[in-house]
Amino acid sequence: MSTTFTPLILAAGKGSRMRSARPKVLHPLAHKPLLGHVLDAVRAAGAADAALVLAPGMTEVEAYATAQPLAVRVALQSPALGTGHAVATARALLPQEGTVVVLFADTPFLEAQTIERLVAARERSNAAITVLGMELDDAGAYGRLIERDGGLAAIVEVADADAQTLAVRLANSGVMAFDAARLPELLDALEPRRARDGNEEFYLTDMVALARSRGWEVVIERCTPTEGLGINDRVQLATAEAILQTRLRERAMRGGVTLLDPTTTYLAADTVFGRDVVIEPNVIIGPGVMLEDEVRIRGFSHLTTDPPKDAKPIVVRRGAVVGPFARIRSGSDVGAEAHVGNFVELKNARLDATAKANHLSYLGDCSVGSGSNVGAGTITCNYDGFAKWQTTIGRDVFVGSNSTLVAPVSIGDGALVGAGSWVGRDVPAEASHIARGVAEQREEGATRVRRHLKRRASKTS
Ligand code: UD1
Ligand code: CA
Repeated sequence: MSTTFTPLILAAGKGSRMRSARPKVLHPLAHKPLLGHVLDAVRAAGAADAALVLAPGMTEVEAYATAQPLAVRVALQSPALGTGHAVATARALLPQEGTVVVLFADTPFLEAQTIERLVAARERSNAAITVLGMELDDAGAYGRLIERDGGLAAIVEVADADAQTLAVRLANSGVMAFDAARLPELLDALEPRRARDGNEEFYLTDMVALARSRGWEVVIERCTPTEGLGINDRVQLATAEAILQTRLRERAMRGGVTLLDPTTTYLAADTVFGRDVVIEPNVIIGPGVMLEDEVRIRGFSHLTTDPPKDAKPIVVRRGAVVGPFARIRSGSDVGAEAHVGNFVELKNARLDATAKANHLSYLGDCSVGSGSNVGAGTITCNYDGFAKWQTTIGRDVFVGSNSTLVAPVSIGDGALVGAGSWVGRDVPAEASHIARGVAEQREEGATRVRRHLKRRASKTS
């Protein structure tokens, strides 16, 4: 089903219950901002563009929103005088006819089909408003939907509710579809209220009673409690993260991924899996990661880019094995059948097919050709305090353990670096390179040194 509607997303609230310096709608769920989840849902529901209400100074939110695939037009609300006032602020961005769907940027689980259903329900009944409600055991802080004569009579906010109203289990998800033609009249009629904090506020929820008083129809559509979950504080944020992680794990497993201990695998909303990937316990996957078929991620590994600073994607190619205890960072490409072992960190590193770095290495800004072996404890010194430099290791190279590769440097195909070497200049193909201090051994040397040290100690005491 394809519907046309104009989404109006409200995100100008202070989000004070988060107690955060960061705008609430940029707090992430599975590494995607709350707002991103809502934008994706409206896009999946067929919206071509969206109107977004922000507060002045929310430049980071605006930058995020305008970088998304959906065309976003922004209205600034100042001061933030409530959800009804927020909609009024965006008036100039709204169409004269059709359906306007108001959504809250703090309600991330709303599904595209539900939005489509809401729009279709409003159009079918030609209602002035269709409200998305949800049945809860305890409706908590949500507004209550008061039904009368088979329709919705009013929405009552908790602050204004008596005991009988509080007992109502049908809660307001906040999502409402409006007949665009009748929306301006309702906005004109909206009166301010005195909110809990004593300030004046215009409640979007009051539009329901206003519509009914004009004899206009208002209908209810339902969604699941999860879909309607609004994030106001960090407890709800954690609840939502847990729900989303469960969904992502289930989606991965249904898509052919084995999770040995699903509850200890943490995924990002954008993680891409091939088939027959196996993930061992306690693995954290951040944004921008793709794991191809038959990859194995061993326990306690951490694969994550670090946006916005370092957002280059991570790819682990077919049949590669990573970990345990590996750290794969932004811009890394682990080739087919390659091995990255314990306590190895990759940053902007490309390992070609079958290359191996099995133990205790830092490989940053480098490439390692196929068939090469990087020995235990090898470090690429990629940073000189001012700039980052590249290390290039060819094919079938053997880098001995505890080698220090001082970039920029390249090691040619088939070359051999002796264990414990530092490499500060290029090594030609097939060359050997051994750079160690001269070894010095003396018979009875240890005895002589100890005798000297003992004598020195006795003089000072
Ligand atoms: C709101 C509803 C409540 C519903 C609940 C669902 C009202 C009056 N109450 O309460 O019935 O059960 O959502 O989650 O609508 N915003 C603005 N400008 C403002 C105020 C808010 O853009 O001046 C935005 C916020 O950024 C947020 C959304 O509107 O994204 C909802 O605001 P919030 O303060 O979270 O409303 P609730 O108290 O949760
Ligand atoms: Ca809310």
